[in-house]
Amino acid sequence: MKVTSRIADLKNHLKEAGIKPVGFVPTMGALHEGHLSLVKYAIHECPVVAVSIFVNPTQFNDKNDLKNYPRNLKKDLDLLSGVLRKDDIVFTPEITEIYPVPDTRQFSFGNLDMVMEAVHRKGHFNGVAQVVSRLFEIVEPDIAYFGIKDFQQVAVIKELVRQTGNKVRIVSCPIVRESDGLAMSSRNMLLEPEIRKKAPLIFRTLTSASEMFRSADVPEIKEFVREKINSETRFYVEYFEIADDMELFTLKTKKEMIPGRKYFGCIAVKAGNIRLIDNLEMETA
Ligand code: PAJ
Repeated sequence: MKVTSRIADLKNHLKEAGIKPVGFVPTMGALHEGHLSLVKYAIHECPVVAVSIFVNPTQFNDKNDLKNYPRNLKKDLDLLSGVLRKDDIVFTPEITEIYPVPDTRQFSFGNLDMVMEAVHRKGHFNGVAQVVSRLFEIVEPDIAYFGIKDFQQVAVIKELVRQTGNKVRIVSCPIVRESDGLAMSSRNMLLEPEIRKKAPLIFRTLTSASEMFRSADVPEIKEFVREKINSETRFYVEYFEIADDMELFTLKTKKEMIPGRKYFGCIAVKAGNIRLIDNLEMETA
């Protein structure tokens, strides 16, 4: 694999390789099996793949979260070298390469940027849209791979692509979990050991909620989820919503369900000092 921090090198490399489709996996590093699964999907479909590693400051609403975000480029490159091929490329830009001047663009995503994560992380999706649109401009991928782990991000990126008329195809990939059910996340390594041990409670509760969805209505399920998680010391539910995966309409009752759509239970939990998110499709039959 090649590694570069320069836009010009990246563009030259992809031009010289001259093969399509170009696959792209954007990341913020601190890579784990979840990220690597996206890379493997990309490799499967694309003769050349670019992976970016860039901790994007504009999507962090919390300065401490940005400061504490795990960074380990050497380990990331080691992991990638185990899966990437000779012509694949890792892009590790400096901030000035991505933002030669401050990015002041304001995107507008309607409801997608008004619910769940957007309520608790003001400006987060605007920052995501800034960096992803910039990376798409640089890499010019044919197919880009994102994880359903960040359920709302996938919807926002699809809308971004629609609004900008970019031809890139967005592929969403399933959540990779630890053997105890905890969704893999770069933030898991920041969990205190006691909290880490209890964290599978989140997925267990989502699984129960999904089963309940067959017979119970939304308020009852929401109450169950909050009660179950909040009763564990130092676990606190920021939100739990059940939303469709297209417009992210959060249900108050099952009567509002739109036929033919899939519904996902989406949760954010403060686990000790760390904020974790997860989601699971709700069973309807
Ligand atoms: P990051 O959190 O590093 O995640 C990069 C990609 O990996 C995202 O598409 C995310 O959904 C996916 N991912 C993370 N954990 C996963 C898991 N357990 N299973 C499957 N996929 C998983 O998301 C971002 O970075 C940034 O917002 C980014 C899109 C790179 C823009 O800065």
